[in-house]
Amino acid sequence: MKEKILEFLAQSKGSYVSGEHISEELGISRAAVWKHIKSLREEGYIIESSSRRGYMLPLASDVIIPSEIEAMLDTELIGRHIVFLESIDSTNDYAKKIAAESPDGTLVIADEQTKGKGRMDRAWSSKRGEGIWMSMVLKPRIAPHRASLITLIAGAAVAKALEGLGANVQVKWPNDILIGGKKLCGILTEMGAQMERIDYIVLGIGINVSTTEFSEEIKGIATSLKSEGHYLSRKDVIASVLNEFERMYTSYVKTGDASEAISICREKSSLIGREIYVISWGGKEPAKALDISDEGDLIVEYEDGRIEKVISGEVSVRNR
Ligand code: BTN
Repeated sequence: MKEKILEFLAQSKGSYVSGEHISEELGISRAAVWKHIKSLREEGYIIESSSRRGYMLPLASDVIIPSEIEAMLDTELIGRHIVFLESIDSTNDYAKKIAAESPDGTLVIADEQTKGKGRMDRAWSSKRGEGIWMSMVLKPRIAPHRASLITLIAGAAVAKALEGLGANVQVKWPNDILIGGKKLCGILTEMGAQMERIDYIVLGIGINVSTTEFSEEIKGIATSLKSEGHYLSRKDVIASVLNEFERMYTSYVKTGDASEAISICREKSSLIGREIYVISWGGKEPAKALDISDEGDLIVEYEDGRIEKVISGEVSVRNR
């Protein structure tokens, strides 16, 4: 019921809706309406009220309402089933738990993560309402070794979506999105598979939208859309990312063609031409990033002249 009230207020965002009208439309008492509004406020939603006019969600409020996102999708698969959670430890962990019984393309999205996960066992700060914390459950019929390209496709989808919304971003192979050299978005892909068959892929995407205060640790290297002057609503970004993703993902799964995603990652690469370190279990080795191959690998030249493909992993830029 709470969600229905929120949806109702969101439809008339910026104008008052009377308590009486809400109670009649939803078939509940005015006292019940008030109780739900109170609980929504306790969850952090800003709802203005006036004794004569009723309740109002301010125009600038950036709430996530699954039905609004659904209405903006032109997808067949991705986001056709949305699980919205106000607060969860990690949307990736939740998506893994429900993967077996969830339809392909299910989207898990949370307003807040209390234990957001990054790659390499790092934490991912995911404060309430400040970003997009979402995970997709995917069940592609492809061999497990072809799955790593899906991360690249997701990066390309985020880059294309943000560019379409006016933000000029860079892609740091294999899965970070940057603005002005600072990280705006990270992608964490996890997989449940047999030797020859994928059971599920959980594709987690975190995008900092309105964060303006970062912890001491990441202050110099992290940013958000708002900090870079882009005032975008979360639902516009989510819908656009999902629309872009589905097109490139479906083409890859059906025909093996990921050329659009690879071209985007190449054109927007923050690494090509730069001096980098390739980080692996053995330590870190200096190299120069030359290109991204048609298979999505990073082509690097080591200092002894060896030219190799880096298939997955971590790289960092030198001399920064
Ligand atoms: C990274 O850059 O290290 C990856 C960050 C991935 C963060 C997202 S937020 C949604 C999803 N749930 C998680 O716990 N992590 C991913």
